Amino acid sequence: MTTVALKDVTKVFQDGTLAVDAVNLDVNDGEFMVLLGPSGCGKSTVLRMVAGLEDPTSGAVMLDGEVANDLPPRERRIAMVFQDFALYPHMTVGDNIGFPLRLAGVEPNPRGERIQDVASALGIGDVLGRKPSQLSGGQRQRVAMGRAIVRRPGLFLMDEPLSNLDSGLRAELRAEISGLTRELGVTTIYVTHDQAEALTMADRVAIMRKGVLQDVGTPTQVYGRPATLYVAAFLGSPRMNLLEASVYVHLDRYVTLTLGDQALYLPWDDIRSRAVAHYHGERIVVGMRAEALTPVAPDTPGDVLQGRIRYLEHHGHESLAFLDIGATAVMVDEMGGAVDDAPPGQRGLRRFGQVMQRLKGRAGESQPEPVSGSGNRTSVLPDPGRHHRRPAELAVRLAPYPAVSAGAPLAVQVRMDALHFFDERGDRIDVGWR
Ligand SMILES: Nc1ncnc2c1ncn2[C@@H]1O[C@H](COP(=O)(O)OP(=O)(O)O)[C@@H](O)[C@H]1O
Ligand SMILES: [Mg+2]
Repeated sequence: MTTVALKDVTKVFQDGTLAVDAVNLDVNDGEFMVLLGPSGCGKSTVLRMVAGLEDPTSGAVMLDGEVANDLPPRERRIAMVFQDFALYPHMTVGDNIGFPLRLAGVEPNPRGERIQDVASALGIGDVLGRKPSQLSGGQRQRVAMGRAIVRRPGLFLMDEPLSNLDSGLRAELRAEISGLTRELGVTTIYVTHDQAEALTMADRVAIMRKGVLQDVGTPTQVYGRPATLYVAAFLGSPRMNLLEASVYVHLDRYVTLTLGDQALYLPWDDIRSRAVAHYHGERIVVGMRAEALTPVAPDTPGDVLQGRIRYLEHHGHESLAFLDIGATAVMVDEMGGAVDDAPPGQRGLRRFGQVMQRLKGRAGESQPEPVSGSGNRTSVLPDPGRHHRRPAELAVRLAPYPAVSAGAPLAVQVRMDALHFFDERGDRIDVGWR
């Protein structure tokens, strides 16, 4: 099957939009690679360049180790499935799946057999005689997949193929698609903006933001050790809690992380304390996922933060408490829009320039950006001189429908080994650890 390598691939559209910015990515033989990022970050453009439907402005698209920039789409042994797949309404399911084979001149005899094989693998072997209008949405999606896969492509490209389906069906098809492509051993690049989909389906995930590749790794790697603040904030639900912390080093003893008027202590024998110690007297970002926080009795000694519940969210299987601990939140500017409009020289600097500068409210209710001076700042940390500091609300998991209510005090124990540290540009601090 096909391997894919992108070497410094950049795409600037005619109108000047920089859609893909120097992306390097290797996709191994038989691998299921998920390209993840918000709408507009350049995912489809990457996929279309691999398919040969767009030309890179610079850089190389390599298939099986050969530069393929000039290879016509037909000669790339690629099959694509899009979100808006179209079936031929007047043809049966079998004829729809077999259509590419018929075009290729495959005789009816092996053709029927291959249709049957693919249809059975997709669980639609018993509806081959029906018309698309007689199928459910999920069955139609399977027919589209079958039609793409029947030619036995070396590379399967899927662009948000499930996003028009309802959530139950989506979950079902996720498992089927990744199972099927693995069974067939077809190298796959799968595009989605849905982080849960990416984490459940991928061998490896590549996370993009504004045309720039942020991180690549197995789901465990990118979730457990995100390379940037952006990746940390994008993956997982509830979102990672991101807090501003001041660093103070007590040599040979511990590093104090001050969060509002509380503190956590990173022991000196924790190897990360050396990396964090470089930020003595400065502010960094501390990230803690809900699973790093355990509710405890208020007088529990150790790494404990005290707070008050601002509000509760009930999700059936669990409830989330959002805890005000008097610390300042670091908000990651979500997570869409075109590539940075800064001049090229400043682009790197501004990689996270917008991350924190705009303080977004919860659930889309956004606050205006500060009027002046926000354009060129490079820090993700809130500017102490301005009034866009926002109290952190720590997401904490509780049992379903707990006997507490908003306003109640709550103490949480912090698993220190599960903390993440980022510098003011949004880059991970403890690189090299583990
Ligand atoms: N043909 C085009 N001409 C100009 N800009 C485009 C074109 N296609 C996409 N874009 C822009 O390029 C950026 C990336 O788009 P796209 O790759 O479709 O993102 P995604 O698939 O991640 O949503 C967006 O800002 C989009 O508006
Ligand atoms: Mg797209």
